[in-house]
Amino acid sequence: MTTEPQTPSIRLVAISGSIRRASHCTAVLRSLPPLLPPGVALEIFPLDEVPLYNADLDGDMPPAAVAQLKSAIASADGLVLCSPEYNYGIPGVLKNAIDWASRPGFASPLKGKPVLIMTASPGTAGGVRAQAQIRDALAATLARPLVRQHIAIAGIAARIQEGRLVDESTLGFIATGLLELVDEIRWLAMRSGEAS
Ligand SMILES: Cc1cc2nc3c(=O)[nH]c(=O)nc-3n(C[C@H](O)[C@H](O)[C@H](O)COP(=O)(O)O)c2cc1C
Repeated sequence: MTTEPQTPSIRLVAISGSIRRASHCTAVLRSLPPLLPPGVALEIFPLDEVPLYNADLDGDMPPAAVAQLKSAIASADGLVLCSPEYNYGIPGVLKNAIDWASRPGFASPLKGKPVLIMTASPGTAGGVRAQAQIRDALAATLARPLVRQHIAIAGIAARIQEGRLVDESTLGFIATGLLELVDEIRWLAMRSGEAS
């Protein structure tokens, strides 16, 4: 007997704050599918093609990569971010994407979107300072960054092998974060069902 593959009922979009080919953060995101609960799918949206924010281009016909980014976020039930820290803060690549996605202000695809934030660094602080800034920027967009223990992965280089996160305890910690994200998404869906 064959079993039909389950159609995912929850779709997550994952965004890396690094566009480097061998990025540790992108490797972390690539390692997530086996950790997802049943019925949850995850797709990585690369930021390589997203241009610098320019309000002159921010209208009904934004650059193609921006339109794709906004549409991916709009159709996702939740977001998963993994970012490095640059000079104690949020990398420009990720801040730029948040800025594009945040328009129109307070009514953008980010509004009300649950977000699991992760940071990773070869250093000892795991990018925790960038994480605070990412949380702040998302709060400005009315997104819903998950309130939970930080996922700030220190010493990331030693935890990656062949482009995948292989450290079991980190994978376990992230799996719990993903479960909490999915719970939040389901709770929000139930609440909006109750309201309608
Ligand atoms: C411009 C720049 C600034 C950096 N600043 C920090 C920093 O403040 N804190 C930190 O932990 N790592 C810092 N790093 C190191 C990055 O965390 C490291 O390069 C990391 O691997 C980048 O993420 P990726 O592997 O996903 O590309 C910096 C790297 C660059 C290129």
